[in-house]
Amino acid sequence: MIVVRGPSDETGFSESLARSLGAELVEAEHKLFPDGESYVRVPADLRGETVVVVQPTYYPQDKNLVELMLLADAARGSGASRVVGVAPYLAYTRQDKVFRPGEPVSIRAVLRALHASGVEVLATVEPHSKGELGHFPGKALGVGVMRYMAAKLSPRLHDPLVLSPDLGGVERAREFAEAIGADFDYLEKHRDRVTGEVSMRPKTLDASGREVVIVDDIISTGGTMALAARLLLGQGAKRVVAVCVHALLVGDAYAKLKTVGVDEVVAANTLPTPPGVQQVDVAPPVADAIKEVLGSG
Ligand code: R5P
Repeated sequence: MIVVRGPSDETGFSESLARSLGAELVEAEHKLFPDGESYVRVPADLRGETVVVVQPTYYPQDKNLVELMLLADAARGSGASRVVGVAPYLAYTRQDKVFRPGEPVSIRAVLRALHASGVEVLATVEPHSKGELGHFPGKALGVGVMRYMAAKLSPRLHDPLVLSPDLGGVERAREFAEAIGADFDYLEKHRDRVTGEVSMRPKTLDASGREVVIVDDIISTGGTMALAARLLLGQGAKRVVAVCVHALLVGDAYAKLKTVGVDEVVAANTLPTPPGVQQVDVAPPVADAIKEVLGSG
């Protein structure tokens, strides 16, 4: 088995994955042509090998997605026996349905394109919704890591109240809380689909005097997390820890979280994060899921 580190992996995910899989690690060659097109090459003999291509698809999403497709095509064309695509962060997962007439189901288009380019097994971490990977024509693995992250963070937490910023994410809060024997609940959120503005209806939560861990799959602009943190600190929470899987942290999002008083920001290593964010390496559970599916196929 060969793990290919794609150009967008800057967090050591590929190295950790290769170690956990007991596989050889190869770094993809990469350059941009003068007109902006990507060039990739896998400098290894891939004939007869299971090839695992790692390429998180954060910003610039479209370029990183195309490079994942090019790497899969290169692996197929070089005689790999099987191609596994690993997008620790998979772009376009939040457009998983038509919210307004005339919109695409973006994740469906992305998953079909990945499969057509040669990805037979696709692994990603903590997909936004349960059903969306069902659009992938091959075998898709959505590796949940809330329990894993909770266990890793547990020594630093003190009888926390675990909260999801919305009802949609309450399952993640439950998994995180159950792994460490903590209480959990959710806040009610509303996002205006046209303006993107987020508001939160106050809910009766006894956060007063408690350490609060807010868990979400994604922190993008930081608006959701900052609002939740401000609300909870206003209700007397002792300390707020923001935990997410995919820390996109667009623009000044990290500063925004620190400004409202978030004590710690923790994320998985599915994409690069700014200094100050604590990273949890989640490649080992991804390796376990890949081993299981390859072993059974
Ligand atoms: C939404 O459904 C997601 O789970 C996150 O809550 C959301 O993507 C966070 O976005 P932002 O950081 O921009 O508020």
